Amino acid sequence: MDSIGSLGLQQREGAPSSPQEGLPCPSNSSELVQECLQQFKVTGAQLQQIQTSLLDSMEQALKGQASPAPAVRMLPTYVGSTPHGTEQGDFVVLELGATGASLRVLWVTLTGIEGHKMEPRSQEFVIPEEVMLGPGQQLFDFAARCLSEFLDALPVGNQGLQLGFSFSFPCHQTGLDKSTLISWTKGFRCSGVEGQDVVQLLRDAIQRQGTYSIDVVAVVNDTVGTMMGCEPGVGPCEVGLVVDTGTNACYMEEARHVAVLDEDRGRVCISVEWGSFSDDGALGPVLTIFDHTLDHESLNLGAQRFEKMIGGLYLGELVRLVLAHLARCGVLFGGYLSPALLRQGGILLEHVAEMEDPSAGAARVHAILQDLGLNPRASDAEFVQQVCAAVCTRAAQLCAAALAAVLSRLQHSREQQTLQIAVATGGRVFERHPRFLSILKETVMLLAPECDVSFIPSVDGGGQGVAMVTAVAARLAAHRCLLEETLAPFRLTREQLAAVQAQMREAMAKGLQGEASSLRMLPTYVRATPDGSERGDFLALDLGGTNFRVLLVRVATGGVQITSQVYSIPECVAQGSGQQLFDHIVDCIVDFQQKQGLSGQSLPLGFTFSFPCRQLGLDQGILLNWTKGFNASDCEGQDVVCLLREAIRRRQAVELNVVAIVNDTVGTMMSCGYEDPHCEVGLIVGTGTNACYMEELRNVASVAGDSGHMCINMEWGAFGDDGSLSMLSTHFDASVDQASINPGKQRFEKMISGMYLGEIVRHTLLHLTSLGVLFRGQQTQRLQTRDIFKTKFLSEIESDSLALRQVRAILEDLGLSLTSDDALMVLEVCQAVSQRAARLCGAGVAAVVEKIRENRGLEELTVSVGVDGTLYKLHPHFSSLVAATVRELAPRCVVTFLQSEDGSGKGAALVTAVACRLAQMTCV
Ligand code: BG6
Ligand code: GLC
Ligand code: GLC
Repeated sequence: MDSIGSLGLQQREGAPSSPQEGLPCPSNSSELVQECLQQFKVTGAQLQQIQTSLLDSMEQALKGQASPAPAVRMLPTYVGSTPHGTEQGDFVVLELGATGASLRVLWVTLTGIEGHKMEPRSQEFVIPEEVMLGPGQQLFDFAARCLSEFLDALPVGNQGLQLGFSFSFPCHQTGLDKSTLISWTKGFRCSGVEGQDVVQLLRDAIQRQGTYSIDVVAVVNDTVGTMMGCEPGVGPCEVGLVVDTGTNACYMEEARHVAVLDEDRGRVCISVEWGSFSDDGALGPVLTIFDHTLDHESLNLGAQRFEKMIGGLYLGELVRLVLAHLARCGVLFGGYLSPALLRQGGILLEHVAEMEDPSAGAARVHAILQDLGLNPRASDAEFVQQVCAAVCTRAAQLCAAALAAVLSRLQHSREQQTLQIAVATGGRVFERHPRFLSILKETVMLLAPECDVSFIPSVDGGGQGVAMVTAVAARLAAHRCLLEETLAPFRLTREQLAAVQAQMREAMAKGLQGEASSLRMLPTYVRATPDGSERGDFLALDLGGTNFRVLLVRVATGGVQITSQVYSIPECVAQGSGQQLFDHIVDCIVDFQQKQGLSGQSLPLGFTFSFPCRQLGLDQGILLNWTKGFNASDCEGQDVVCLLREAIRRRQAVELNVVAIVNDTVGTMMSCGYEDPHCEVGLIVGTGTNACYMEELRNVASVAGDSGHMCINMEWGAFGDDGSLSMLSTHFDASVDQASINPGKQRFEKMISGMYLGEIVRHTLLHLTSLGVLFRGQQTQRLQTRDIFKTKFLSEIESDSLALRQVRAILEDLGLSLTSDDALMVLEVCQAVSQRAARLCGAGVAAVVEKIRENRGLEELTVSVGVDGTLYKLHPHFSSLVAATVRELAPRCVVTFLQSEDGSGKGAALVTAVACRLAQMTCV
């Protein structure tokens, strides 16, 4: 006979003698037996009360409310669906904790074909008592040795193996392969394991063992293995019930009811852990003096009270306690107590099951009792049988009450009048004890009459189910690998960023010298930031960002006052003829003037024109090339101010005095410079990206003069157009570039700015879909649509306050149907893409501030950067990552980032104001 849990109960040193030893003995022997048996009777009302109280406890735990009484735990597992039957492969399964002091290793082959099963190979090992109660490392090392021994007998060679770990103790799971033991139950008490991730402990032990390359892919409770291994019948099997050494059940709950999950779709398997149920009100009346004694002498005093009335580890013990009491009173065995009757674990579940079996007959009962060292009289056998039956009947009935609570929960959560459901059963109590299931069924029918339950016995102790979960986990782990591989090129190292910074420094120097460089380093003819003495009313235009604006800027003693209006530039105008574009701009100005009562006045006008221009003076700017989706014909190579003046002329009766053309970076720097004199850098991270800064005039080859400064528009969006960034470019960048209207151009901008990040993400998602990692490998028309994934989605998706389900809602709005795993992966893609952008941008800023510091021969530079742009302002993490990168790469510069509040139109007006002031001074 097996020793099921003979070690589970332990006489604690110095413990008082068993309470029932002092029980009074009535004189009549039959009366005494009846009295004992009576204690094990549970009424229908009591069972109902247990059912109700347990249901209540389950619901509280689901809501995340702590109950004052130790309650059921309701632990979410990471199993979200019952098996499809298509899982396949070879898996090693290690079972620990379900069946007493034994550990089982199985080799399971899943064929992927429904109904086609291959018998698993398995081997059982007995865990020595000192291992069950010793240090945790010893237990896991023992498990690793058993694994090796088992595998040695198989022709596995040195192939990598995938292992599913069935670990049947209450655990907090945080992933399919992460599970922290809450507390030992059922006779195990290894030190240093509670509060630890048992998967990691097993991995470490396997590594120490060093013989096989085994990856622990999934960890599951035995109930989950039982449920998952059940062959789907009429419907899927959605409850797993185990009565082995201990007892527990799992079932598929609606995820939206599980508070800790923050998930509103689908189902998740919950391990009820009902063994710890111990509501005094409900259990109190059914607890006997024998239950108290058993608890008193157990390893986990006061814990798992419900389990101690049902689990196989305890049934033999309860019978022993009753028989010992009856013997002590002289009612049984002529008053003789054999050593087996006096020793904890002296009677096992197997003895009880066999003696209780009605077919066993008195002779068999006699034989067993004799094996236990007793010398039974004729009448003893019948009494003993009655005791076994009473203990087991109560166990089956209590188990039924608990199962009925789970069924009521299912019925309620699924809002079904009648529930048709399959329950997978597993564990030695079912296997060894035929009456247990029939009593259970009968009682469930009484307690949950509206449920139509079919019980399906598990065939291989859940090994198949563990392998199923492992197969799913292995698939997910493979997907994660592919995701990591895909995202790796986006994750730039410090060395790569430092190289970008160095290359940029080199390109800056060359550009300033007029040598071939992807950085044009365009002089802007802005020589000074405002000094505060500027006054007057100015018009400003702001073209090139998300919005086209016309502004009236009043610069007065009290500060700057702005009135503005946004006008749209339809794509057909942005990409039509130049004449059309500039006529449209003038129309908007006229409209604005009329609305502001400015018609007929010729105010000085500053023009923020956010495209690369070669300037020959403040009011001359030759458009070098369009960027950011603009492509109006006949403009490149033309002076933009002339194009504007011609349009003004065409629209007779308007007089405008165009004084300055200003890049948005310059406008932003000037606008922030009005508030902070340290502001000597302008940065834009919006539709496009670019920077400007105050350079020493002596370094600017194309402008005469050796003293003073000049603001340089770097046009850093084009950095790398000479191929110098190709090392960093992924094939997603290449696809985005190829599909743009300016292939090969603005390569730095295409890795950083808002116009492109959404597209990079979209291409990455398409690739992951083609690998089968996302969206179950289903390509959708929507995702193949260009620009469908806006950069603003990155900002929304990455917002910390958003739960994953909101991420999913955003994506579903795009017509993508996805699981939570998909949502998480999409989030990771967004993060990788935006982080690379922010870090590249930071490397650029680091190059600029270091250049200024070196220009001035300073040990340390204190400088401010004026920043604008939708991506920088709206993205939750972009700005802090830019700042962190600058700190890392330019440690000798103290850089403050100032967000521009009024856009660069204000800066353009200020440039105009400075120009007017200087012009007036020259006139004087
Ligand atoms: C604004 C400027 O403040 O920032 C625009 O006024 C500029 O001219 C813009 O182009 C950049 O941001 P976005 O996100 O609109 O391209
Ligand atoms: C104990 C464990 C539980 C397990 C059950 C059956 O109650 O805590 O996790 O499922 O025994 O083995
Ligand atoms: C593009 C333009 C540049 C502008 C930047 C930000 O890179 O070429 O001039 O500053 O976008 O808007």
